[in-house]
Amino acid sequence: MNQKFYHRNRVTAGFIISFALLFFMSWVYVYKNEILFGKKKAEVVEPEPEREPENEPEPERPTVDVTKPMIAITFDDGPGKYTMQLLECLEANGARASFFMVGTNIPKYPETVKKMKEIGCDIGNHTMHHARLTKLDAAGIQYEVGAVNQEIQNLLGEGAALVRPPYGSVDAVVQQATGLPLVMWSVDTRDWELKNTELVKNYVLDTVKDGEIILLHDIHETTVQAMLQVIPELVNRGYQLVTVSEMAVARGVTLENGQKYYSFYK
Ligand code: NI
Repeated sequence: MNQKFYHRNRVTAGFIISFALLFFMSWVYVYKNEILFGKKKAEVVEPEPEREPENEPEPERPTVDVTKPMIAITFDDGPGKYTMQLLECLEANGARASFFMVGTNIPKYPETVKKMKEIGCDIGNHTMHHARLTKLDAAGIQYEVGAVNQEIQNLLGEGAALVRPPYGSVDAVVQQATGLPLVMWSVDTRDWELKNTELVKNYVLDTVKDGEIILLHDIHETTVQAMLQVIPELVNRGYQLVTVSEMAVARGVTLENGQKYYSFYK
């Protein structure tokens, strides 16, 4: 009996020690895993702040493919009440244009002018009062151009880098006094005279080719209506609708102050 009792105690002790050991080992296992998970968590968390800068909103400016055909659409005499509609169409089609604005119109449409810059359009100067610059002296020319650029600078932080002389009137005095590149055109749609959506639309679509600078006027509803159809159609035909300054860069031309630019053919 005594021996049996002793034996049973030994068995019980053995069980207790076994359970204690099992419990200890399990605890160590859990403890180790917690450390392991802790480390894993830290490793997962670390790359997240690195990913954040990639997700920061970058100004999405479509890049110009120099191997593909391109056209610079330009609008004079605005901004006007139809200009915003035109900008929305350009934006929706991944397109840009150049706007040569008359100074007296700018304070009427500040949001439109801001939108031009926002979507990457060229901000151009078309003088304060649509002046025939060849009739003015150097001081008069500088006032007509300078006053507009002051308005644009107040609105956008920087003035226009390009001038389109009204009526295309340029002489040596104008070239000297404006002090900026002078943007002319290679396609004159005469949209201000036609004032007909179908005629303007067909003229542009039938005439344009790679490297062209097209002259239009965004103050006419007929012109804007035409361009709402022309813009997606030109994109559809494989043209990149770019600004004058973008096309100059794409064609390897450095725009110089006082020089006239009519087109950027290859
Ligand atoms: Ni004009």
